[in-house]
Amino acid sequence: MQTTFSIIKPDAVANGHAGKILSLLEANGFRIVALRMTRLSQSQAEGFYAVHAARPFFASLVKFMTESSVILMALEREDAVLKLREVMGATNPANAADGTIRKLFAESIERNSIHGSDAPETAAEELKYFFTGIELSQR
Ligand code: CMP
Repeated sequence: MQTTFSIIKPDAVANGHAGKILSLLEANGFRIVALRMTRLSQSQAEGFYAVHAARPFFASLVKFMTESSVILMALEREDAVLKLREVMGATNPANAADGTIRKLFAESIERNSIHGSDAPETAAEELKYFFTGIELSQR
């Protein structure tokens, strides 16, 4: 079993797609270990996406991620990191496969409905950034 980190982004929450996304995740074998709805502060979003700080889209990405509420999740299943990325689809919804979350719901490469950690090491860091050890160990 592996745990990965995911965010239902402001576009998907505001457009009323959160329930459908949670349902799709559960249908794909993910167990929700921890979940919290919150509105990210500027510094939380900047810290979370620090690896992208030099990218031209960084300021716009932080503005988008702080514009309204998000849903933070810890998700468990076998091969969770890889499987979540399959279920999400390509970063750019124009390239996402049919049936993936981004194909179904994303508006653009930036407003792409969902985030998922890109590697087990990143998942561990991202989980720790938003959740306490107690939240992550509850069953
Ligand atoms: P995510 O998987 O959360 O990781 C970084 C985010 O930056 C990505 O999803 C998109 O929301 C955004 N992003 C990535 N590439 C671009 C791009 N070329 N232009 C605008 N936003 C981008």
